[in-house]
Amino acid sequence: MEFRKVSDYHPPKFASNLAFVPRKRVKLATLPTPLHKWNLPGVPDGFQLYIKRDDLAGFFLSGNKIRKLEFLLADALDKGCGSVITCGSFQSNHCRATAVAAAQLGLDCHLLLQSKTMTVSVKGTKELTTNPGNLLPSIFCGSQLYFVPVDELDFKEREEKLAKSIEHSTGKPAYRIPVGGTNSIGVFGYIEAWNELMSQDGFDKIDDIFVATGSGGTLLGLCIGNYLTGQKIKLHGISVGFVKDYYHDHANVILRELNVTEKRSEELVDITDDHLGGGYRKTMLDDHYFLQEVASSTGIFCDPVYTGKALKGMLAEMKTNPSRFQGKNVMFIDTGGTIGMYDGSLQTCLDGTFTKLAHTWEDPSDDPQPIN
Ligand SMILES: Cc1ncc(COP(=O)(O)O)c(C=O)c1O
Repeated sequence: MEFRKVSDYHPPKFASNLAFVPRKRVKLATLPTPLHKWNLPGVPDGFQLYIKRDDLAGFFLSGNKIRKLEFLLADALDKGCGSVITCGSFQSNHCRATAVAAAQLGLDCHLLLQSKTMTVSVKGTKELTTNPGNLLPSIFCGSQLYFVPVDELDFKEREEKLAKSIEHSTGKPAYRIPVGGTNSIGVFGYIEAWNELMSQDGFDKIDDIFVATGSGGTLLGLCIGNYLTGQKIKLHGISVGFVKDYYHDHANVILRELNVTEKRSEELVDITDDHLGGGYRKTMLDDHYFLQEVASSTGIFCDPVYTGKALKGMLAEMKTNPSRFQGKNVMFIDTGGTIGMYDGSLQTCLDGTFTKLAHTWEDPSDDPQPIN
């Protein structure tokens, strides 16, 4: 498949009987992503940890969202749309990936971003009064940004209004992508990822898989792959923001749309909402130091909102609840999110470690001096 070229899509054999299969796919991600053992300190004896590096699926296009966008944006182009509209939190990885992918494909991008502070602050200042994180690539790629109240969960009315006005002004329809890119099209990103995993060395040993779960499309795609191929790996989702019923309700709707009616999501995946911390995007300084430990001991970066929370949750389950696991070979999917680490939320932790590591050294004939 050529990069950025829309092609006909032929699903893996195991998925070919689903009630719905996308017609098109556009190659955006750098695939396959590596799968390897991960010697992470803190993993209890007996467990062998593996990591699937979906954070390496690209740079600004990194992470799990890009796999979904290969199908969603191909559908947009196939339908003759000239722009895309999507939504998320103001530091959404999904929105950033959509902005970048849209720019690569020549689509205009409109992002509805939930933000209490931005809705208030942009009124007065006309300046970006926050550390940009994911906003930097979105702005550089020319996406229109609409800051909406943080407690708004249903964007339908705004999206319809926007879609109408875009079609009126450009003469082309706008394509609407749901939160997190999770629907019966986007879910094919991780049905395909399952196909990729099945051909990778080490996958035959895996007993359990863990993944951070937000809108649920990543876990659901894996779950469909696992079920239809009869692999019987135990799939675990660590919810980062919502109670588990939110995930199951949404997943069951998509399973029915795909005509997987003999099983319910509750039977296919183990999802826990015990590691939400203070809620979506809420983390403590301890969590930030945990991310630093992971990076300094293994050179792999987790973000505070998704992968860090999920990894910490998985380690807690290994220690306190080993019977939750089907076996000892556990794969963690690194779904990316590293660009969000530049949103300023890690500053206190960064400052704390900086003072321990930094030296001044003006004159080469002197010795370097610690700054604290
Ligand atoms: C880095 C990262 N990991 C995991 C997730 C969760 O994926 P999903 O929405 O498919 O559950 C997201 C969602 O935004 C994400 O940005």
